[in-house]
Amino acid sequence: MGLAATPYENYCIIIFMNEKKFSILVVDDVKANRVVTEKILSSEGYDVLTAEDGLKALDILKRDLEIDLILLDVMMPEMNGYETCRRIKSISKKLQEIPIIFLTAVSHIEGITKGFEAGGNDYIVKPFQKIELLARVKTHLNIKYIKDKEIEQTQKELIFMLSQLTDAHSKESATHIKRVSEYAKLFALLLGYDRKHAETFELAAAMHDIGKIGISDTILDKKGRLTEEEIHIMQRHTTIGYSILSESKRPLLRAAAIVAHQHHEKWDGTGYPQGLKGEEIHILGRVTAISDVFDALDTKRSYKEKWPLNDIFAFIKTERGRHFDPKLVDIFVDNFGLFMEIRDKFPNHITG
Ligand SMILES: [Fe+2]
Ligand SMILES: [Fe+2]
Repeated sequence: MGLAATPYENYCIIIFMNEKKFSILVVDDVKANRVVTEKILSSEGYDVLTAEDGLKALDILKRDLEIDLILLDVMMPEMNGYETCRRIKSISKKLQEIPIIFLTAVSHIEGITKGFEAGGNDYIVKPFQKIELLARVKTHLNIKYIKDKEIEQTQKELIFMLSQLTDAHSKESATHIKRVSEYAKLFALLLGYDRKHAETFELAAAMHDIGKIGISDTILDKKGRLTEEEIHIMQRHTTIGYSILSESKRPLLRAAAIVAHQHHEKWDGTGYPQGLKGEEIHILGRVTAISDVFDALDTKRSYKEKWPLNDIFAFIKTERGRHFDPKLVDIFVDNFGLFMEIRDKFPNHITG
């Protein structure tokens, strides 16, 4: 069985397929309250999950669903809202980040301090007005969204910096990573993935050669042909990259692990390191393979000249169904102009 069938890849696929929409968890023991709140929130386009008590809420949150905000009733039998809040905040760093708004009855207004002490972010007094509920929900989602974006941006910059370090080590051209990533993103968009998932292709592709960090300079810098043994060592950059990146549970780094592992696999099964065939190779691996080869041929390197564009175009077409996924070759051929735009946008200044 190929890696393409391993559980974490399935997980990544699920992540790719679900367009991000804000999800709100409503926890209230009174059914009528849950129904009304759900109706108001759904009518505004939010995804709503409901739980009738704290334990059910914890179950939902532990299932690792992407919840963006929690509306939490205070007065509930078994476990009250404060205790539920404390438990949610103690499970994981990720759950700590989810804003919690308490739903407080006027008679329990003195409990507001208790709510903040338990880790709550805000409160709404019941019975509430629709407009108030929506305004508060929106405010907290906006804050969370900005925070998440900030983290994403930092992550993105770090990934590019790290990838460029590996590239400098392996004497790749300075803009190789940028172009390969942009090509991968373009392929993803042309395949029909949304922006968010196309960005995963982009960032994961940036890390394709990260395993070269574990290959010695003598081999990376060697002018001329590598010996059989050196080729063998060089090929290990795929498994080295995979073992570094697959340590992480983060979907993005798991996607990058797939790319690092599979970007030298070939559609006809003659690639390495696993000799995967066809769709056994993850779409991330197939997309990065064609993006990487296209850019490598289009760039002068210490051991080879840059190919003329016509020759590259012809070569990619002949490798349809051999090195590359036929569907991706068709996309490349049909949208050649778009790939050229990226090529011209990030020209090569430094060649290795
Ligand atoms: Fe590589
Ligand atoms: Fe590369």
